[in-house]
Parts: sequence; C-alpha cells; structure tokens
Amino acid sequence: MASHPIDRLHIQVMRGELISDIDRRNIISLCNRAYEEDIAALFNTFVDATHVLGYFDGSLVGHALWVTRYLQAGTNPMMRTAYVEAVATEPAYRNRGFATSIMKYLVSEVQDYDLAALSPTSVTYYERLGWELWQGALSIRTENGLLPSSREEEVMIFRLSKTPSLDLSAPLSAEWRGGELW
Ligand SMILES: CC(C)(COP(=O)(O)OP(=O)(O)OC[C@H]1O[C@@H](n2cnc3c(N)ncnc32)[C@H](O)[C@@H]1OP(=O)(O)O)[C@@H](O)C(=O)NCCC(=O)NCCS
Repeated sequence: MASHPIDRLHIQVMRGELISDIDRRNIISLCNRAYEEDIAALFNTFVDATHVLGYFDGSLVGHALWVTRYLQAGTNPMMRTAYVEAVATEPAYRNRGFATSIMKYLVSEVQDYDLAALSPTSVTYYERLGWELWQGALSIRTENGLLPSSREEEVMIFRLSKTPSLDLSAPLSAEWRGGELW
C-alpha cells in the first residue's frame, strides 16, 4: 500500500546549540523562502531555541521553534511559556499536513511548560489546531513599567495540562526582548 506523505514526514527535535552551521543555514533559508523575506537577523534574536524539524525524503521541508518566555495574565503568577516562532513549510510541500504535524508534535514536547503561545500571521490557521486568540490588552514588561502593545498585535495561546484557569479577556504581558516583542 502506498504511504501517505504525512507518514513519511520524519520529525526531529533539536536544541539550537546542537544544530550545525549548515543545518542552521538550511533552516534560515527555508524560513526565508516560506516568509518571502530575510529573517536571518530576527532568527539571531531567539535565545535558547529548540527546533522542530520536518524532513521529507531526507530534505528539510518544515520547521517551528520555541523559546522560553514568561507570560502573565493580569496579576496572576508568571506562566513559563513555550513561545513558538518561525513556523514554516517549504512552498512546494504545502497543504500536506506537514505544519499541522509539526505543531502537534511541538505541543506534545512542551507539556512541562505552563502555557504555549505565539503571535500568528493567520489566526484562522492556528484556530483549527486548537489555539485561542487572546482577547485582552497586550503589553511588555520593562524596567520602566508596562509598555502597551499596539492593538494590531495578536497573541494566541494553547492550553497545556499544567495551564491554570485563564480569563482570555484579562490583560496579558510578556517580558521585554530584543527583536520582535511578541
Ligand atoms: C502557514 C504554513 C506554515 C502552513 O503550512 P502547511 O504545511 O501547508 O500547513 P498544513 O498542510 O498543515 O495545513 C494546510 C491547511 O491550512 C490552510 N492554510 C495555509 N495557510 C493558511 C493561512 N495563512 N491562513 C489560513 N489557513 C491557511 C490551507 O488552506 C490548508 O487548508 P485545507 O487543509 O483545508 O486544505 C505555510 O503556509 C507557510 O510556511 N506559510 C508562510 C509562513 C507563515 O506564514 N508562517 C506562520 C503561519 S501563521
């Protein structure tokens, strides 16, 4: 029986510091083709990333990564959050369920976190995977207090087994970082 392409996607999880220079360049060029822009500089701002890599017939065709951030809903305790970035599928390999598989795999790998979150390019894409759009005001915590985020900024969350009860309309903050704040 012929195998479905999804069965042939080999998924590997790798900490950033263990990735070779060549593989790192391959990941960045895959993301550049997917996003149709050069994200190399942004990529360098992701600290202690863990990468989820999707290989089809030996070629890298899909990617996502997470970094650790600390999100806070209102004045509730900080949530150690797996913050997802650089979700990308090689253009010629789209609509085969590869990004869906990578995102599901990523969620299974971050179950020791309090929460998963991301800033979506497309809300509808992630909604079908069970992610929820945060409704409350967003801000960034800085040395000088809270920096309100623009209303165009969107953040989605995925509830993990350790996620506390959340009111999606509460204010949500994250620590300041270099590069993209959300
Ligand atoms: C978004 C992306 C990662 C999806 O990769 P993929 O491997 O093709 O995704 P899947 O095969 O798991 O899912 C495909 C489905 O999502 C839908 N979809 C793809 N991009 C979408 C988008 N931007 N908004 C809404 N739906 C989208 C497709 O129409 C398809 O729907 P169908 O199953 O009903 O036919 C890929 O299109 C990509 O790399 N885009 C550019 C980078 C980007 O925007 N990344 C962040 C995503 S918010």
